[in-house]
Amino acid sequence: MRLAELQTPCALIERSVLERNVATMARRMAELGVSLRPHVKTHKCAEIARRQGGFQGDAGGITVSTLAEARFFAGHGFRDITWALPLDPERLAAVAELQRGLEGLHLLLDDPAVLAAVEAFGSAHGVRFSVFLEVDCGYHRSGVDPGLGEAFELARRLAESPVVEFRGLLTHAGHAYRCQGAAELEAVAEEERSVTAGFAAELRAQGVPVPVVSVGSTPTMSRVRDLSGVDEVRPGNYVFYDLHQEAIGSCRRRDIALSVLATVVGCYPQSGRLVLNAGALALSKDRGAEHVEGFRGYGALLTADGSRVLDHLRLTGLSQEHGHVQSFPPERAAELPVGSRVRILPNHSCLTAALHEDYVVVDGDEVIETWRPVRGW
Ligand SMILES: Cc1ncc(COP(=O)(O)O)c(C=O)c1O
Repeated sequence: MRLAELQTPCALIERSVLERNVATMARRMAELGVSLRPHVKTHKCAEIARRQGGFQGDAGGITVSTLAEARFFAGHGFRDITWALPLDPERLAAVAELQRGLEGLHLLLDDPAVLAAVEAFGSAHGVRFSVFLEVDCGYHRSGVDPGLGEAFELARRLAESPVVEFRGLLTHAGHAYRCQGAAELEAVAEEERSVTAGFAAELRAQGVPVPVVSVGSTPTMSRVRDLSGVDEVRPGNYVFYDLHQEAIGSCRRRDIALSVLATVVGCYPQSGRLVLNAGALALSKDRGAEHVEGFRGYGALLTADGSRVLDHLRLTGLSQEHGHVQSFPPERAAELPVGSRVRILPNHSCLTAALHEDYVVVDGDEVIETWRPVRGW
């Protein structure tokens, strides 16, 4: 099958780019002496997760963001899974059931009330849970502040709890997405490492064992130079990368493996407008790295074969199923009459990928296969 025969809109994965991204990250992390537990929320797809396992064997440890992902990947032979969202105690019964068939299902929390709920459930049902303490290394989304005594106390309680197997410390430097350029990314990567490894060292000095120090985001792991004191890393987006990653300096344009193929369904050269059949539900409304370059549109438009950037076109607006394109100068809109096809590079590939039922894997013009990800929570 050829690209031209595909129904649009559809999500395309350029196989060679995906495989290069996966191999590059695996090699770098092996060189830095850490194990890779990739975050599979970017693709939610077993075929990609198996490729990410790479040097660790077919079904290595992974990180997920939902229990639906955990169940799906367990069903595909992944036996060691970290659920990297602060634990909702209401899901403990489901966790207890799922973990029975696994080598490990690791949870995270940052709140003594959640630990109390884990202990109550564990004592009542005779089960133990593997739990990370989530640490805030500067992102300020979730996690304990390692400078506070409460953080130390919660780590000690986790280590001493009869119901908990204390897995260690986990952090995510999401603030790296606000960086601009390699030097800033390297500084945030070093902050992520030093805050977490430093807290682990303090705890160990006080007799609290910390088995695992887990860090990682795609921007930091794409630029990090030193991971001493770290055991494992959890980047996810790097399999696809995207325009945001390019703008902040994590990747090059040619590293972007995911795109959306769309068709022109409206052409209005008098006003310089085109309408595509790819709207917010094919692309997401992520606005990209506005702090670096202002708003550049909801994606970058290329020719359908991906070979040429159409930089006279700007994807200025999205409604649910319409993509609104403006041509500069207006008359050049006539170059893409109704029925023409374009390719769109996404601002944020995780969100774009999550909107598609299938991924079409391509090698240039050739359609290789279709992969089906998991959806839901
Ligand atoms: C806890 C956690 N770990 C790892 C990741 C992966 O980071 P990235 O998406 O930058 O690859 C995320 C992403 O949000 C995350 O929330």
